[in-house]
Amino acid sequence: MKEPLPSLLISIAEGVIDLGWGHPSPGLHPIALLKQATDHVLGGEEPTPLQYGAVQGFGPLLESLAAFLTSQPAYGFPVEPETLFLTAGASQGLDLCCTLFANAGDTVYVEEPTYYLVERIFEDHHLNVVGVPTDGAGLRTDALEEMLRSDSFPKPRLLYTIPAYQNPTGTVLSEGRRHELLRLADRHGFLVLADEVYQMLHYGPPPPRPLFGLDDSEAGVVISLGSFSKILSPGLRTGWIQANPRLIGRFLNAGLSVSGGGLNHFTSTLVHAAITLGLLAGNVALLRETYGGREDAMDRSIRARLGPKVSYKRPGGGYYFWLTFNGELDTEALQPIAQEVGVDFRPGNAFSLSGKFPHALRICFALYESERLDEGIGRLAKALESYDSMVHGLAAP
Ligand SMILES: Cc1ncc(COP(=O)(O)O)c(C=O)c1O
Repeated sequence: MKEPLPSLLISIAEGVIDLGWGHPSPGLHPIALLKQATDHVLGGEEPTPLQYGAVQGFGPLLESLAAFLTSQPAYGFPVEPETLFLTAGASQGLDLCCTLFANAGDTVYVEEPTYYLVERIFEDHHLNVVGVPTDGAGLRTDALEEMLRSDSFPKPRLLYTIPAYQNPTGTVLSEGRRHELLRLADRHGFLVLADEVYQMLHYGPPPPRPLFGLDDSEAGVVISLGSFSKILSPGLRTGWIQANPRLIGRFLNAGLSVSGGGLNHFTSTLVHAAITLGLLAGNVALLRETYGGREDAMDRSIRARLGPKVSYKRPGGGYYFWLTFNGELDTEALQPIAQEVGVDFRPGNAFSLSGKFPHALRICFALYESERLDEGIGRLAKALESYDSMVHGLAAP
């Protein structure tokens, strides 16, 4: 019989704990919240939710979002609605940035490792992707400066960074490096695309403010990208860009905007209702508490079950742990063994064009509750034992 077409992006084999997906748990989708927001909107309390929307985005949401972001400890500066433009999510926002600010053949610098799916967006625009080294404090601005000065590297038009709880490494770009990056962008004439979708998911003290909040250049060298995917639901496909109004002007004149009007207008009316009814703030608090508990549980499981085999830095926010194994372990070779014992992950080299991360892997703590995470780490420990036995020529127990 013909298989039905899939409904979702995610697909997990029966019985497998797949720590590879960076998706939220089904149980955390705010269904009651969205029902309430939908009743409010379709009950006639929002203006024309089904008409074409204004090009910058639904005005009331621009205002309520600005107030909401201003109230967040992870922002720490007043957000003005004139600096915002609503998108259909960070991925769409990035695609539009490439359309507006780059030409085929231009170079984009990315962190190495970086969010692997974004590279596909750059490839769609025929951009040349070049990696910049990172360490425990994020993008290495000293290495970036050397690359900018050297004739061996093409000059970038864009630089893509994930400054808070980076995907895949979980690192936070230090305050000093943030300033340094903006100084380099201003001096060398490239635009920084700051993907800040995890900015509000901090489980302890907040990260430094988003890069836009530090940009005091006259013309603007930063486009910060935010998303409701990680703080409400990814199926809403709604997010925002924050930039200097001069740059926002380019988005307002995009062919996509003038033909179709505001991106995702109807959903924007729901999100606006969720903010004004106080539901978004409650949801962000719930997610911080829930994911914070899971991050803690995963940290304990890793220490208890993998111990000295692995080194990592606890992320303190976002979705991911980046584990680096000692010795010669190759995580691409480990993967089929792990799948056999019912656990999966993303090997380190999935996040890099250079193949420099054969000993690393990424696991996500957002999709499962703590008990399942612990079971998953237990299975990973088992897979490592089998791998060791195979490498050392012993029969697996
Ligand atoms: C760093 C990063 N950027 C963007 C996205 C996707 O964002 P959106 O759903 O808003 O398109 C993800 C999703 O995992 C991500 O990790």
